[in-house]
Amino acid sequence: MPVTIAFFQKAARLLCLSFIAVLFTFNGFGQQGRTTADFDKDWHFHLGDVSGAEQTGTSDAGWRVLNLPHDWSIEGKFSKDNPASPEGGALPGGIGWYRKTFTVPASSKNKLVYIDFDGVYQKSTVWINGHQLGFRPNGYISFRYELTPYLNFGGSNTIAVKVDNSVQPNSRWYSGSGIYRNVWLVTTDKIAVDHWGTYVITPSVTDKLAQVKIVTTIINRTKASRPATITTTIIGADGKTIGSSVSNTTLKNASTQLIQEIKVDDPKLWSVDRPYLYKVVTKITGLNFADEYATPLGIRYFNFDVDKGFSLNGKHLKILGVCDHHDLGSLGAAVNTRALERQLQMLKAFGCNGIRTSHNPPAPELLNLCDKMGFIVMDEAFDCWEWKKVKYDYHLYFKEWHKRDLEDQVLRDRNHPSVMIWSIGNEIPQQSDTSALRLAPELAGIVRSLDKTRPITTANDNPGKGNKIIESGAIDLIGYNYHEFDYATFHDRYPGKKFIATETTSGLEMRGHYDMPSDSVRVWPSRWDKPFTDGNKDNSVSAYDNVRPAWGSTHETTWKVMKKYDFLSGMFIWTGFDYLGEPTPYSWPSRSSYFGIIDLAGFPKDIFYMYQSEWTNKTVLHIFPHWNWEPGKMVDVWAFYNNADEVELYLNGKSLGVKKKTGEDLHVMWRVKYEPGTLKAVSRKNGKTVLTREIHTAGAPAKIELTADRKNIKADGKDLSFITVRILDKDGNLVPNADNLVNFKLNGEAFIAGVDNGDEVSHDPFKANYRKAFNGLALAIVQTKEKAGSITFTATSKGLQEATVVLTAK
Ligand code: GAL
Repeated sequence: MPVTIAFFQKAARLLCLSFIAVLFTFNGFGQQGRTTADFDKDWHFHLGDVSGAEQTGTSDAGWRVLNLPHDWSIEGKFSKDNPASPEGGALPGGIGWYRKTFTVPASSKNKLVYIDFDGVYQKSTVWINGHQLGFRPNGYISFRYELTPYLNFGGSNTIAVKVDNSVQPNSRWYSGSGIYRNVWLVTTDKIAVDHWGTYVITPSVTDKLAQVKIVTTIINRTKASRPATITTTIIGADGKTIGSSVSNTTLKNASTQLIQEIKVDDPKLWSVDRPYLYKVVTKITGLNFADEYATPLGIRYFNFDVDKGFSLNGKHLKILGVCDHHDLGSLGAAVNTRALERQLQMLKAFGCNGIRTSHNPPAPELLNLCDKMGFIVMDEAFDCWEWKKVKYDYHLYFKEWHKRDLEDQVLRDRNHPSVMIWSIGNEIPQQSDTSALRLAPELAGIVRSLDKTRPITTANDNPGKGNKIIESGAIDLIGYNYHEFDYATFHDRYPGKKFIATETTSGLEMRGHYDMPSDSVRVWPSRWDKPFTDGNKDNSVSAYDNVRPAWGSTHETTWKVMKKYDFLSGMFIWTGFDYLGEPTPYSWPSRSSYFGIIDLAGFPKDIFYMYQSEWTNKTVLHIFPHWNWEPGKMVDVWAFYNNADEVELYLNGKSLGVKKKTGEDLHVMWRVKYEPGTLKAVSRKNGKTVLTREIHTAGAPAKIELTADRKNIKADGKDLSFITVRILDKDGNLVPNADNLVNFKLNGEAFIAGVDNGDEVSHDPFKANYRKAFNGLALAIVQTKEKAGSITFTATSKGLQEATVVLTAK
């Protein structure tokens, strides 16, 4: 090849360009194209109002320095007098200020600079260098501000954020307070893909061929027409290019919309069992500008059928989902990807395949994980419209903000393959009022103007005749909250309509507590509108699936109906995990809910295994309760099992009989006169042993056992290891009522991010280096710093043999 001057010029330019790129990768500034920088580190925080804190000149030197995401409420003390009330988790709210000072290189003068907040609870006002950028009342919405016109290029800049969660109650559950989701600093050239600027859909999908349509919105802020090349490429999970589309165009206006289509042969379909993800990469190139923007793509098709229910990729599938609130137990509302992933892994373990983001838009990380792990998401917008549920909730802002908030939610979330249902409201009080005839079509219209590929529903607590939301005809799926006794006759009420159980069950359980007889159901409370005066003195609730509130059912009752009819397309159980707040059936001193299939610390309750036996192929034999009772007491022993014909139970070697599930049974039971010793269950199929389980009467607490869910964790300042603490007797049996105080010591580059034990009534702090065990268990969450090394975690307790676990941060 002849070496020409042009060659040298080109090589020199390339060299120069890559040098500039290396120079300016720091801070996310400078290089051509887009950078999205994690903006979570080193914020200054002050709890309480500070006059003038938005001004650059105000000193924040004495403020606490922390990394986001941050929830100040979870650091506080429980009190029934906190304005959130026990319904809201009984933790403090207030006003908090965050400030961050950062530099922007002079070379970025030609860039557009934005700050993206994934969520701030609530009523946030943001300033840059003393200039107010805006106010967002909704604590669950993601929003962006442009900083460009107000920045000191080549100098220092200060972002100030005021968060006002002082006026409470504003939520029916624990909200958390602060910048509790991630913050990003985004820089682009003046020609770039707009915010949430792609919309990727699959208008036709078969096993052989998928048509992918990509709509891209491109902004041009150069004030001149510019020729540009837009190349959109679909990339497989293995990194290989599947197909692409190239458009040469002139970007004239402030905003241009471009439509491209790409065909994918033999597409790998996204499903809950094989959530195959492609990536759509949009590249813009032109003279002195460039952009690259990635959008997830899952190729799948789904349908809700009047008679046959839900199908995914042409195959019938029942949506087996749970509702969850956003708190992560002792971590509070502060989002953490690993904590979310752990929750989803536990839900998958019992066969759950769906999540309802009750009752608000979730953290983006949750949707990313649902895409990756295979969950079907009902993405919900509101818990109220114009009429309130609690005094200071979103009804105060609905009129002014609902359009903007709903649009932003749909724009942000519509590319996630996991999202398959939009819910525009939960138990909206206006469902009984003619105003719903106006509002339901308006809200549904907002959603449809941005996405017609998913059905819209509302979660109705009064789904019968007279429901104006349903009457409005705006809704695609008729959403039932509870009313499982009406499911079978749904089509008598709504002929030709499609069904979804938006919320079910609300069974009540406290892990490890059992009230006999197990086969009589307590209805606690027996009326939703009357104070609850029954119950146990210590605010405990039985874990036999024998307690439910007036509006709910036991777990088994709803599942028995749900599994019977195909047209019942699916269900979302209230709830997957216990959450802070709403401590039904009690109030103070209880401060968190009893609804979870899994407790607040992440320990499964017994009902977990009923679902696992029904919803998975995993072979299950789970017997309970524990075997430490007063001699002579009549104790009900339950077994959840599958893949077997029968279970035989033995007490100290003596058979107590063989039991078989018959008819609709989901468990078997023996009523046993207690004597200490060993309870043994054997499940058999065709006379052959399938599984054996034993429970022993435990002696006095003697030692601690520690189990880390992951011993190798990332030294990225975010990763977590969840360490389970078990109190054992000298023979290694879990002591089922142990409540020993356990102290934690940590050596290495990490810290204890939270401690818990799942007790709904405990007022001990979540941020501590100690925790009492509750019914034998406790939890410590270890979070890395940004240094690699080994982390030694030790648990000690008076009179018990201590335990140590060593983690490695890499
Ligand atoms: C439902 C409501 C949920 C929760 C639940 C408790 O009616 O939608 O948010 O309050 O009851 O059972």
